[in-house]
Amino acid sequence: MSEAMATELAPAQPAAIQRAAELLRKNSLVAFPTETVYGLGGHALDESAVRAIFTAKDRPPGNPLIVHIADPSDVGSVAADWPESAARLAARFWPGPLTLVLPKHAQVPAAVTAGGPTVAVRVPAHPVAQQLLQCARIPLAAPSANRASELSPTTAQHVMKSMSGRVPLVLDGGKCPGGIESTVVDMTTNPPRLLRPGLISIVQLQEVIGELDTTAPPTSEVRSPGRSNRHYAPKTQMILATDHGTMIVQDLILMGMKVGWLTYSDAPQVDGCRRQDMPQELSEYCAALYAALHQFDEWRLDCIVVAAVPDTPDWTAVRDRLERGSTRG
Ligand code: TXA
Ligand code: MG
Repeated sequence: MSEAMATELAPAQPAAIQRAAELLRKNSLVAFPTETVYGLGGHALDESAVRAIFTAKDRPPGNPLIVHIADPSDVGSVAADWPESAARLAARFWPGPLTLVLPKHAQVPAAVTAGGPTVAVRVPAHPVAQQLLQCARIPLAAPSANRASELSPTTAQHVMKSMSGRVPLVLDGGKCPGGIESTVVDMTTNPPRLLRPGLISIVQLQEVIGELDTTAPPTSEVRSPGRSNRHYAPKTQMILATDHGTMIVQDLILMGMKVGWLTYSDAPQVDGCRRQDMPQELSEYCAALYAALHQFDEWRLDCIVVAAVPDTPDWTAVRDRLERGSTRG
């Protein structure tokens, strides 16, 4: 794929969605909004389209892709088996931000699954993603529409910043309502195993399937490379505070650093830093998080101090993203 390719940014109106569907059927790539983050979609059953996704993202081939389908009844075209517990999770959370790892169907190219025997599948709820899938009538492999190891995009402008020149068409559907990625659960183990915390919480999953293994897989077992720390990081160094972070911010400013502060409106006023006040409510926090980090990156600061978030189970996915984002290398 040539980096000189022109990228069109089109509002996600019916005619543009139709055109996007035709491009996808011809094995071209299209970036589109989902309820979590923007995806970089390609024909999941076409090896060349799948390879083009990896090239466009500079994604290492060892990191498998999520396949998006229009309807739960389409799962048989990409998965070889549909355990009863998967059916129950799908009945409760699809369409929505839950990805199920299942035994792969023979017609899914090995490139999608990084050569492995399993495939990750989800039915997105976003109306644009739904219309696109219904129009294209093919399953779409779609990782987040950012270059490898960059922050996930939650607006079409974030996609353009990272992928302009690498994809022919970006459908602009405004801000993603969810703001962080889907929860990924491996349904091929017993009990099912959480591979990536996300918008569907551990408690919500346990309410439906009972037992869930939430221990991280051993690092030798590269089952879900999205767990690795280089993902989900802004370019700017991030420091996690154990409180609002006021003292750290003041100290860093005194040291002459350009500081960004991701905090809350009830934190004290500190002069000489770039500050963004986050909502206290969980779903609003998720929806605002990546946009705030993208903004800090644009300000080209020396570091971002992040006020502590609640230490409760429902905030697991947010803590996961903040912890990975603050780990270098
Ligand atoms: O919310 C989302 O999931 C977004 C939107 C676009 O759907 N997609 C997304 O894709 O976050 P990506 O490629 O950035 O992350 C996919 C995650 C990675 O952690 C990957 O390792 C894991 O899913 N994954 C994919 N296939 C897998 C498989 N067969 N087994 C285990 N993990 C898998
Ligand atoms: Mg990603």
